[in-house]
Amino acid sequence: MQFQLSLFLHLGWLSGWKAEDECGRGACRPSPGNLLVGRSAQLTASSTCGLKEAQKYCILSYLEGEHKCFICDSRLPYNPHTQPNSHTIENVIPSFEPHREKTWWQSENGLDHVSIRLDLETLFQFSHLILTFKTFRPAAMLVERSTNYGHTWKVLKYFAKDCAISFPGITAGQAQKVGDLVCDSRYSDVEPSTGGEVVLKVLDPSFEIENPYSPQIQDLVTLTNLRINFTKLHTLGDTLLGRQQNDSLDKYYYALYEMIVRGSCFCNGHANKCEPLQQVQGDIFSSTAVVHGHCVCQHNTDGPNCERCKDFFQDAPWRPAVGAQDSACRACSCNGHSERCHFDMTAYLASGGLSGGVCEDCQHHTEGQHCERCRPLFYRDPFKAISDPYACLPCECDPDGTLSGGICVSHSDPSLGSVAGQCLCKENVEGAKCDQCKPSYFGLSASDPLGCRPCGCHPLGSLPFSTCDMDTGQCFCRAYTTGPRCEECTAGSWGPGDHLHGCAPCDCAIGGAYSNTCSPKDGQCDCRPHVTGRRCTEPAPGYFFAPLNFYLYEAEEASPLQGLAPLILATALPTCDVYFQQQGNDFTMDRGNIILNKNQKQSLRADEQNK
Ligand SMILES: *[C@@H]1O[C@H](CO)[C@@H](O)[C@H](O)[C@H]1NC(C)=O
Ligand SMILES: *[C@@H]1O[C@H](CO)[C@@H](O)[C@H](O)[C@H]1NC(C)=O
Repeated sequence: MQFQLSLFLHLGWLSGWKAEDECGRGACRPSPGNLLVGRSAQLTASSTCGLKEAQKYCILSYLEGEHKCFICDSRLPYNPHTQPNSHTIENVIPSFEPHREKTWWQSENGLDHVSIRLDLETLFQFSHLILTFKTFRPAAMLVERSTNYGHTWKVLKYFAKDCAISFPGITAGQAQKVGDLVCDSRYSDVEPSTGGEVVLKVLDPSFEIENPYSPQIQDLVTLTNLRINFTKLHTLGDTLLGRQQNDSLDKYYYALYEMIVRGSCFCNGHANKCEPLQQVQGDIFSSTAVVHGHCVCQHNTDGPNCERCKDFFQDAPWRPAVGAQDSACRACSCNGHSERCHFDMTAYLASGGLSGGVCEDCQHHTEGQHCERCRPLFYRDPFKAISDPYACLPCECDPDGTLSGGICVSHSDPSLGSVAGQCLCKENVEGAKCDQCKPSYFGLSASDPLGCRPCGCHPLGSLPFSTCDMDTGQCFCRAYTTGPRCEECTAGSWGPGDHLHGCAPCDCAIGGAYSNTCSPKDGQCDCRPHVTGRRCTEPAPGYFFAPLNFYLYEAEEASPLQGLAPLILATALPTCDVYFQQQGNDFTMDRGNIILNKNQKQSLRADEQNK
């Protein structure tokens, strides 16, 4: 009866954790309980009496040398009617049933090193351990725990009647601060002979804990596995002697009435309720007493231990809830264009701790941390909110003529005079869509960084405004002008030089020049001997043009005039002679000039041009 009272007290106010069951007002915590309840399958002992066959064991009598002996048979689980002598480890799990005092776990006789191990299915918070012994408490034992499912272990506390002998090198006495590893001798006395307890509090209630979520505290108060190693039996002085007698071994073994591993589901202050992680196999005799391991997370957190923010609640870094601060996770703001985001510390710090959520895969042609901008090649409809799925409209710009392949002004800015959707033309391009070359430019092309090339029309050779064909670049030439830029004169003309009207016809004098072609530079016609002037219209110095009748006269006289230089060589107008001879006789003469009829004129011109 005595130990039942103390058990009652332990379950009550020894928990060490203040209940905070309302998540709305800050940190909250699921109610603690005995982690063993419902987990018999996860509790094992390295030694149990009578597992393979019935074994005898004895108890010390008050009269020295007298023993009372019993049978242990643990081949089947305990049953008050059919298996009253079964002492398997699951008997230590409190059941509050009337036969509690009659059930216990017991190890095999005479074994010093025996361990009990609890393997939890997830990380739990652990506050204290209470062991209630049927026999003497161990002369030495230790408690260790793992937070990584048994990969590594850390001793929480040593217990020994004589710490210096059992655990040399471990400080004996009480812990002075959080995390001190000590050997405690208060729980290893040989008295009482039954009902004695070993109590381990993970955090001494007298310690001031500033932040229960500091890594150091977290490391102390959480566990996935617990192991209790009994390392030395109390043998009441007959150690040496007793070990030589089979009888005395039967009196020494470990026996536990009850074990309490008090703890709670570990939710970082973000849940007040937990549910099963998976269907745990075991004796769930009272589902309300079971401490489940999977937190029902609040504050927009997620994970078995509420150890992260829920999807899309990544705007602020995850934090445990402490006291009045719920440290709830905040939703990202993506203007309705994304349902996914991640936390980015750089963005969070850059915003001065305002927003660290970066939206992913922004839809509706948006981009930016919050999907708050239109993507390149799209612009913001000034009449729609950015949260509107149609807020971003495609730029209607000719990609060839627009800077950066078709971008337009993303949003209106009165201070800059820019209008949303306005195309940003390359230098030599114009038009609302940047699809036309500016005047005097041609050949719109994507590869040209300026968009169009200058026509480069010759200012004198081309028509006014120096325009050219938009595609080919051919300039529009004035008369007598040719070439892609109107920079050349046509055959039979010359210039343009500084000539006022570009090219001018050669206009070579028929008779004075060999042909109607002239130098393109200065228009000089190809003059016959002793004829000069650009058009070959002037006689060379010392010569004059004789009228035809004089020429004929001379021919008739056939003698040069005295005292004068030869007036004109007979070759001065030979083509006329030749021509007239070749053409026969059909011409007229009028006061020394040859009169040609219309046909003769044309054929004479054609002949000239053919030369
Ligand atoms: C406790 O016992 C187990 C085996 O039963 C052993 O592997 C482990 O090392 C022991 N722990 C310590 C701290 O001695
Ligand atoms: C102790 O028990 C063992 C076997 O269990 C037996 O061989 C031995 O003789 C016994 N010793 C005494 C002193 O009874």
